[in-house]
Amino acid sequence: MDAKVGFEITLLTGPAWQARADVVAFTTFGDPTKDPVFKSADQALGGALADVASSESFEGKIGQSLTLYTAGKIPAKRVVVIGGGPRGDFSNAHLRDVTAAIAQIANKTQAASVAFLLPALGANREAALVQMAAEGLWLGTYRFVRYLTGDDAKRPSTLKSFGILRDLKGGKASAGQAKAFEAAANRGSTIAAAVNHARDLINEPAAVATPSALAADAQAIAKKHKSVTVTVLDAKKCADLGMGMFLAVGQGSDQEPRFIHMKYTPSKKAKKKLCFIGKGVTFDSGGYSLKPSNAMEDMKIDMSGAAAVISAMDAIATLGSPCEVHVVTACCENLVSGRAYKLGDVLKSMDGTTVEINNTDAEGRLTLGDAITYARIKIEPDEMFDFATLTGACMIALGPYTAGVMSDNEGLIRNWLAVADRTGEDMWRLPLTSRLREQLKSPIADMRNTGDRYGGAITAGLFLKTFAKDTPWVHVDIAGPASTSSTRPSQPKGGTGFAVATIVEYATRP
Ligand code: BES
Ligand code: MN
Ligand code: ZN
Repeated sequence: MDAKVGFEITLLTGPAWQARADVVAFTTFGDPTKDPVFKSADQALGGALADVASSESFEGKIGQSLTLYTAGKIPAKRVVVIGGGPRGDFSNAHLRDVTAAIAQIANKTQAASVAFLLPALGANREAALVQMAAEGLWLGTYRFVRYLTGDDAKRPSTLKSFGILRDLKGGKASAGQAKAFEAAANRGSTIAAAVNHARDLINEPAAVATPSALAADAQAIAKKHKSVTVTVLDAKKCADLGMGMFLAVGQGSDQEPRFIHMKYTPSKKAKKKLCFIGKGVTFDSGGYSLKPSNAMEDMKIDMSGAAAVISAMDAIATLGSPCEVHVVTACCENLVSGRAYKLGDVLKSMDGTTVEINNTDAEGRLTLGDAITYARIKIEPDEMFDFATLTGACMIALGPYTAGVMSDNEGLIRNWLAVADRTGEDMWRLPLTSRLREQLKSPIADMRNTGDRYGGAITAGLFLKTFAKDTPWVHVDIAGPASTSSTRPSQPKGGTGFAVATIVEYATRP
């Protein structure tokens, strides 16, 4: 869907400053005058680099970069220095933004090849850094240009070859190291491709990314992998299963709902059974509790959870997992019409719980509630996770970049957050304060779908917990980080593909 770019990611040998590439790039951690790599480059350039650094106030901070035309002093045309901040604070995931920034500078200067000196952060971090370097390349050059008609937008990436040097001298790697390098680069490319695919699905208008289109996408992924099968249920089948909450949300739209269930079967006996559930509301108007226009404007992104879990399955099948992995998403549109569900309606969920509707805009928890029941009863997973652009309240609590994570399973939430930390996706735990459950009481049904304003992210989590029952479960509210209006090198505006990296990491390295 996006302008396709292809990179060749290779291991380079030979002295860094003699590399035959259009651009030589490296990271500087803090004060460049104290950074040995910077000093070595400066020497090779006859002191020109330090001059530019001081005249441009380059201090090696995160987000800073320096580009120098080498005027023939070394074979490369340009040197690019990316600030890494203090060395001790630099995580592996930070490298994504470094190589993303390098790729963008390379494309701006029409460079075809880059030689990148991997930061010296210890041999045990090398594979992870190579993976992140690869991810950054793809993520940083992602653009959603389908609907742009100007030539500029369509211009493909000039960067084709990205070479990585393991150290300044560029000594030859052993066969084992070369193999590990290739595996890490491939892993990074596979994960980034899945993230970018999720971005495409999120960025597509709701008129295109319909429930049926998402089902077709899941089917296309299943077709690519022998290990993946997919079942798509239509409204009639969902009715047979008693999914009264999911169907009520979708009934106001002319777009038919689709319930998607993908399954990955490992080649050996499965270690455990995992299920990833995504909120798939392809457009959220709010229903009769109608959103004001400015709040509705971006609501094509309300299927970001579905995009994440469907796309992640592609990477999981490519990389292989020791687990049986299921993906479940109940996809529909929340619209207004003569058939739409109304305030005061009482719905019957798949597990029999009755729910009084006091806000048709709290639709995500209804669709997810039935998806969670389906997962619990039909799949019986050892662990399940849901990803949902569920509440504005979660963004009020944590800001736009951080997902809220809720669970009462201490071990599971700890493991999940540890993996998120590794992949560099910002997630923070919120409590499932059980006292707030009183807000969900209804005089005429087992519960109602909405609580008060205060604690809105938590009451949504408590609502879902009703359906998860005793199955180990983690709820991830991605309302903030699913899309962004402020860019960073590895993240252009629009859908981010948030959670894909952590899902893939969790499923493939449990
Ligand atoms: N899809 C929205 C939540 C959302 C808001 C996601 C902003 C991304 C950005 C969800 O369906 C919703 O409307 N939630 C309501 C819940 C309320 C009615 C209890 C909300 O947050 O206002
Ligand atoms: Mn809503
Ligand atoms: Zn919604």
